Amino acid sequence: MCALSAAARGAKGVKIASVEFVTSAGGLQECPNRPLPEIAVSGRSNVGKSSLLNSLLGRHAMARVSRTPGKTQRLNFFLVNQNFHLVDLPGYGYAKVPAAVRGNWSGMMQGYLQGREQLRGLVQLVDARHEPSRDDREMVQWLLDEQLAFCLVPTKMDKLRQGERKPAISTLLRILHLPSDQPVVPYSSVTDEGREGLLQWIAGAIANVPEED
Ligand code: GTP
Ligand code: MG
Repeated sequence: MCALSAAARGAKGVKIASVEFVTSAGGLQECPNRPLPEIAVSGRSNVGKSSLLNSLLGRHAMARVSRTPGKTQRLNFFLVNQNFHLVDLPGYGYAKVPAAVRGNWSGMMQGYLQGREQLRGLVQLVDARHEPSRDDREMVQWLLDEQLAFCLVPTKMDKLRQGERKPAISTLLRILHLPSDQPVVPYSSVTDEGREGLLQWIAGAIANVPEED
């Protein structure tokens, strides 16, 4: 496993000095206009995206966490250190939402992921305890195809026993067909395991200037 790419290893982690909630956008046209680099947090519903954001930002009630899947249904923007945005994305794969909402979700997400010029990378969460779902596999394949930089983050690591950790991560890497240099940062929002590693990856990703088409 490559914990972090060479670029991220060389970079210092972001230090969180300030965080502000900016807006909750219903689609690409409602996203903030400021030309700041942006990192979005993606994953299936209930995987722990909002919890990870709170842990990462060191602000325990910034993003809304819930036991009920499907809590985050809009694109929630946080301005960090006045110089980049972190975005809490609505989760995929929650079967109980009505078809109309699912349709709305895919339109909103596709518009954002394909149209957002400021987007520098994704923090892609998968539950460390389970095999990736079909939606997870499709999402990761899409990121690989689009060559959008991402860090794979197995979540809820605190729920695994010591001996289960390595096999769980190897299974994820194998099933998701990830390249050997894929950045991977196992995380627990309960213990903050992975926080420094992920802040380091983010520092590298926001420093990357995107290539012109
Ligand atoms: P949606 O907004 O519905 O897409 O969910 P989400 O991905 O934002 O998940 P959320 O952060 O709301 O967490 C879902 C549930 O998992 C909550 O009950 C959290 O307390 C729990 N949870 C999240 N991260 C962790 C973790 O690292 N460890 C443990 N033990 N529980 C976690
Ligand atoms: Mg959420």
